[in-house]
Amino acid sequence: MADLRALQNEVSSKIKEAQSAKAIEEIRIAFLGRKGKIANLFGAIGSLTPDRRKQFGHDLNELKSFIESNLTEKLKSLSSESKGEDPYFDPTLPGVSPRVGRLHPITQTIREISDIFVRLGFEVVDGEEIETEFHNFTALHIPLDHPSRDAFDTFYTDSGYLLRSQTSTVQIRQMKKRKPPLRIIAPGKVYRPDAVDASHSFMFHQIEGLMVDKSTAFSDLKGIIHLFLRTLFGKKVQMRFRPHFFPFTEPSVEVDVSWGKGWLELLGAGEVHPSVLSAVGYSPNRVQGFAFGLGVERIAMLKYGIHDIRLFFENDLRFLRQF
Ligand code: PHE
Repeated sequence: MADLRALQNEVSSKIKEAQSAKAIEEIRIAFLGRKGKIANLFGAIGSLTPDRRKQFGHDLNELKSFIESNLTEKLKSLSSESKGEDPYFDPTLPGVSPRVGRLHPITQTIREISDIFVRLGFEVVDGEEIETEFHNFTALHIPLDHPSRDAFDTFYTDSGYLLRSQTSTVQIRQMKKRKPPLRIIAPGKVYRPDAVDASHSFMFHQIEGLMVDKSTAFSDLKGIIHLFLRTLFGKKVQMRFRPHFFPFTEPSVEVDVSWGKGWLELLGAGEVHPSVLSAVGYSPNRVQGFAFGLGVERIAMLKYGIHDIRLFFENDLRFLRQF
């Protein structure tokens, strides 16, 4: 018994001192090898009296697994230490940071505008870009001979569809599938065959707004637009409602803004025409609504002082990185 304890102390201190995998292996051979100390002691069991054999064999087995587990542990700690000793590893160097992208200024503007209306209880909805004449014109009370229906003003497909030229299509789609009251805004792309220049693009973005309820008066429209413009542009902005004509609203207005010098046309709006309400199965005698439509690029250009709409669509990172 005393021998085994001495042996255990001996192997423990050897393992403690070992500084390499090679030294560990040497200890393993010396103690656990075929001709090692433990094997020798097992060989000597036969010389013991039968009543001591069992106890000694048991102690010997315990010592053997003690040595085994200590060797494995030491080997593990040696290899993890050596990683820290890597002369090329410098934990003070900055890591490799991924290039972070950003949202396009048009997307940012859409989100900013949407947020304002969401706070006023409007819901953001989506619509299709490939549309029918019914949704883009007929249901919106636009007569058959209206110039906007002309192929010079709208892109038609060969199979009788068109690329929507305004987001007012979403009003129709939403009213057709839902019952009033309704408070929605619909941001999205629209298409018009315009020659591209500093202020025109064949594709641009609009945000359509629509509110329908029992009594949704022109004064409600005015209040909401006023609040919206002040939130977006600050309290100094002035606004003006100028009488206008849209087939789908009556009365109709264009809203201009100013900061003191001159007026800038910003959006179209009006009270939803009774014929539009009828076209979607609403009763003009029971409900009333207002609608507005605004151009996102124009607002972004105003906000950021951009003078050429083409910059938005050229994918020039020198431009986009500024937002
Ligand atoms: N759809 C109109 C346009 O594209 C804008 C508008 C929307 C006007 C809703 C009135 C009401 O010019």
